[in-house]
Parts: sequence; C-alpha cells; structure tokens
Amino acid sequence: MKAYIKKIANYIPKNIITNEKLSETLDTNHEWIASRTGISQRYRSGKEETSLSMALHAINNLNIIEDDIKNIDAIIVATSTKQHPSPSTATLIQNSLEIKNCITLDLSAACSGYIYSINTATTLIESGQCETVLVVSSEKYSDIINWEDRGTAILFGDGCNATLLEKTNDDNKGIISIDLGSEEHASLLLVKNGGSISPITESNIDDNGHYVQMIGSEIFKHAIFFFSQSIKNILSKSSLTINDIDLIIPHQANIRIMKSLAKSMDVSMDKIFVNIQNYGNTSAASIGIALSEAIEQGKIKEGDNVVLAAFGAGLTWGSTLIKF
Ligand code: UT7
Repeated sequence: MKAYIKKIANYIPKNIITNEKLSETLDTNHEWIASRTGISQRYRSGKEETSLSMALHAINNLNIIEDDIKNIDAIIVATSTKQHPSPSTATLIQNSLEIKNCITLDLSAACSGYIYSINTATTLIESGQCETVLVVSSEKYSDIINWEDRGTAILFGDGCNATLLEKTNDDNKGIISIDLGSEEHASLLLVKNGGSISPITESNIDDNGHYVQMIGSEIFKHAIFFFSQSIKNILSKSSLTINDIDLIIPHQANIRIMKSLAKSMDVSMDKIFVNIQNYGNTSAASIGIALSEAIEQGKIKEGDNVVLAAFGAGLTWGSTLIKF
C-alpha cells in the first residue's frame, strides 16, 4: 500500500509587497534583492488573516466534497506561525471542518515542514493507520519578521498550501521514498523568545528576540551541501540516477542556492522549478505552493518522477521522490 497526492491547492494573500515598496522604508533596493535572491515580490497577509484562516481558504480551494472531508483520518499542519501555542492549529482545522474524530498535530520543522509532513502522512497511510491525510503548510512570517532588518525582511512572505494524500494500491504512482535529517545549528536561524526558556515579557520585548534572527551567509553554505546530499540519498535509496528525474522542486529560499544545487547535481535549470520571484520564501509552505503551481502549469505529466527538496532552521533537511 502506498500514499499518493490526490489533490493540492494554494491560498495566497492579496497584498503584494514589491522590492520597490520595501525599499521605501529599508536601506535596500530592487537590483540588490533581485540579483542576490531572485525575489521581485512577496505577499503579506492582512491583519485579520491568520495561519488558520489561510489554511481554511487553501482547503476550500481543494474543492473536496463534504463526504470526503468526513473521511479525513489525520490533519498535519506544518508551520512556524501557529494560531496559538496550544491547542494545535490542526485541531482548530478539524473543528472548523466539523470532522468528528481524527488525528491532529502541528509539525515544527521550519522550511522543511512540508517534506517532514508528507513523510508523516505517508507513514500513517503505509502503516494502515489512516487512509486519507490532509497536510496543510500555512505561514504568516510577516508577524515574526523585523521589518527593519534588511537581512530577513526582503526574504520572507506569507502563503499557504493544502495537500490531500490518500492510500493507493497502484504500485506505479505515489510517494516512492523519503530522506530526512537534521543537525544542530540552531543559532543560524532562530526565534529566540516566546518559548519556555524566554517567554516574551515587557523587559525583553525591545531586544527583538521575538523576531526571526538569521546568519544568512552561513545558512547559504550549509543549504547547498544538505540539499544536494539529500537528493543524492534519495536517488540512491530509489536506485535511480538524476537522469531519471523529470523535475526537481526545491525549497524557494534563494535563486543562487537553487543554481548552485543545479550545478552540483549537473542538471540544467530547466529541471528546477522556480517561483521565488513571486513569493519569496514562504518557509514550510514554499514547496507545496511550488508543487501546486508546477502541476497547474502542466510541468508535471503522468508517469513523471519528481523530487521535492527542502532545508530549514535546525538545520533540518529532507527530500521526497514522487511518481505522478
Ligand atoms: O529557509 C531558509 C532561510 N534562509 C536562507 O535560505 C538564507 C540563505 N542566505 C541568503 O539567502 C543570503 O545570505 C542573503 C540573501 C540573506 C544575503 O546575501 P549575501 O550575498 O549572503 O549577502 P551578505 O549578507 O554577505 O552581505 C553582502 C553585502 C554587505 O555589504 P558589504 O559589507 O559588502 O558592504 C551587506 O551589508 O550586502 C549588504 N546587504 C544588503 N544590501 C542591500 C545585506 N543585505 C542587503 C540588502 N540590501 N537587503
């Protein structure tokens, strides 16, 4: 028994923040951002929007009939910007969808959250515990970004993806294999305050520790290594070579990281799906959003081998091979 992606859809907030708009308040400019990152714009959700409300929009965009909603056995939400510290955003989705009983959990793996969630969903399906699993990756990074920090404000954007996985007995399609890992480099990408070691208080609010702090150049170096290593691992697990892969969908963090990945794997950029110019880095949502767009744009055909690859805070990383 295998898991396959039955449906996938995005929700993107309406408010576009262009590089030019950012440059009005930050010491930066379009040329620098576009050439150093590949980003031209990103989306910012409205004040009333939350990771939950974006999730419900994305789920609505899946167009699932009511009977199929009742059949969802598990909901996994990949996010660094959950609705509340507790209960899980997944539970709130369950309540909103009026599903009587299902497994609900939020998964914290930063930008690798989508791959980690697909892995968890696949394991639940392959073990026979679940037949249908809903994976939602919903991020409102605009709330945890210091808009005065040009090192991070230019990179991140808001967005959401919903992916419905189901069991299949068809050996020729679905999630073929997964490679996951992590190594302790916490200080490179961190939201320091707001957890048990340092709750947000009046006395620490001014040190901006409740915002994302990042040593971008160090992340950059590690990302290229872990990215290509994980893809090599998955190819070897699947007894395939890079020539057997039709499309690679990497985490959309920086176009230069994606170009370095292509170089290290010896593939042309035609094989790498890129949409960072429109969204920036939407963290856990980035690969789901990109996969949904690639399908919509007809870049994936039946029978294609597609590799999804991620890295993120932790540092975590992972990749998935899917046969469509
Ligand atoms: O999901 C994982 C999330 N994180 C990442 O993937 C981050 C990966 N890292 C990156 O994408 C890049 O490191 C950044 C885009 C964050 C930065 O690019 P960089 O090429 O590593 O720049 P840098 O930090 O080494 O800075 C180079 C120069 C510096 O000026 P000097 O010292 O050479 O005069 C910076 O002060 O660029 C300057 N700079 C900027 N200039 C205009 C840094 N940020 C900006 C900016 N606008 N936004």
